[in-house]
Formats: sequence, structure tokens, C-alpha cells
Amino acid sequence: MNKILPFLQRHDGTITGDDRIRLFRQKPVTIWLTGLSGAGKSTLAFALERELIALGRPCYVLDGDNIRHGLTSDLGFRLEDRRENVRRVAHVARLMNDAGLIVISALISPMREDRAMAREIIGHEHFVETYLSASIDACAERDPKGLYAKARDGAIPSFTGISAPYEVPLNPDLNIDTARTTVTVSVTHLFAYLLDHCFLFDRPCISQSIP
Ligand SMILES: Nc1ncnc2c1ncn2[C@@H]1O[C@H](COP(=O)(O)OP(=O)(O)OP(=O)(O)O)[C@@H](O)[C@H]1O
Ligand SMILES: [Mg+2]
Repeated sequence: MNKILPFLQRHDGTITGDDRIRLFRQKPVTIWLTGLSGAGKSTLAFALERELIALGRPCYVLDGDNIRHGLTSDLGFRLEDRRENVRRVAHVARLMNDAGLIVISALISPMREDRAMAREIIGHEHFVETYLSASIDACAERDPKGLYAKARDGAIPSFTGISAPYEVPLNPDLNIDTARTTVTVSVTHLFAYLLDHCFLFDRPCISQSIP
């Protein structure tokens, strides 16, 4: 633990979470997309972001590949690095949720325990584990970045599904098989989830509880 930590004091502002809920007309949530490389996490994340922004909903995508260029550029792909990657992104998601935004994260996040840690950090009521369940064969056939071919040749060590584990979520909040569901329909499912669970203000269950 950081030695200075015991001497630090939190300094909370006077703006509350409810103030931000009223301001943005939405309850903050993190849609945590998990699945194999090529399952469609980035594709769906940015498609949903586009839809939400078009409707005036403040949101932001935390994409694993993008974040590895900065915040997590010191990390590799060993299991402990992947865990640290998830931990940092979860803390950023939490901060963005605190700021009132909807967050869509797109990380393979292969280990159950690490995803459970993300849920703890972000808060159960703000966390929607969404498993993109395309099979490894479907993902390898897509191979949008040519990574499966390289991994099978041994050029990429610790590649999820080939030489590193992926632990399938046992009880995800949402499961979308992107091998059978188009991007448009997947976005519709995600959007419906947000409405049905009252994260957006367009339903009476929300507008009645907010003055
Ligand atoms: N129904 C679908 N949903 C999502 N992507 C699809 C679908 N059908 C085809 N694709 C294609 O599959 C590919 C998915 O790649 P994408 O980069 O989104 O995967 P990813 O899960 O982010 O992978 P990585 O973990 O390597 O970043 C894209 O080329 C996309 O166009
Ligand atoms: Mg991606």
C-alpha cells in the first residue's frame, strides 16, 4: 500500500449522483463487453456509442486496444497483467460513471475472477456483464486483425483461446451470440436492456422516481 495513503483525506464536492442523474437524464452504467478476440466487442461498443450520442446520451467507449496505447501501455498479456489491465479500466469506468456517463468497455477480460473484481470496483448496480458468445471458430474465421493466423503460427504468445484461457461467464447479465445476431440487432438488444432496467429516463419507472 502507498505509505502516504493514511494521510490523505477524501474531499467530496456538494454535487451528488442524483444531481448528475437529473442533469443527464440517465443513470450511470458500465456495459462490460467480454468475449474472444474478434467477437465484436469494439464493433458493438462504437455502434452503441453512436446510437446513444445520436439520442443525446453522454457516453464513452473504453476500448482495450486504445487504452493499451496509454493508461496500460506498461502491461503485457500474462494473467497478472490482464488482471491489472481490468483493474485500471474498471477504476476509470467508475470515475466516468461517477461523472454521470454511460460507459461501454471493450476488453477481452478473460478471467471470471477479474470480471468479478471489475463488478466490485464499479458497483453491482452499475455493472452489466455482456458476453459476446461467438465461438472461437467464428472469431478465427473473421480474424479481422489477422491475429488468429499469427497465433496459430506461434508468433503471438498468450493469445486468448489458443494459448491463453478464456473463462466463459457463468451468469452474464446479457448474452449476445454475434455469429447469429447482426450488429444492428445487437445494438437494439443493448438499448432495450438500458430502457428495461431504467438506466434511461424514457420510462415512467425512472421519471416518477426523479423529482
Ligand atoms: N454480428 C456481428 N457483430 C459484431 N461484429 C461482427 C458481426 N458480424 C461480423 N462482424 C465483424 O467481426 C469483426 C469483429 O471485430 P472487433 O474488432 O469488433 O472484435 P473485438 O471483440 O473488439 O476483438 P479484439 O478483442 O481483438 O479487440 C469486425 O470485423 C466486424 O465487422
Ligand atoms: Mg476490440
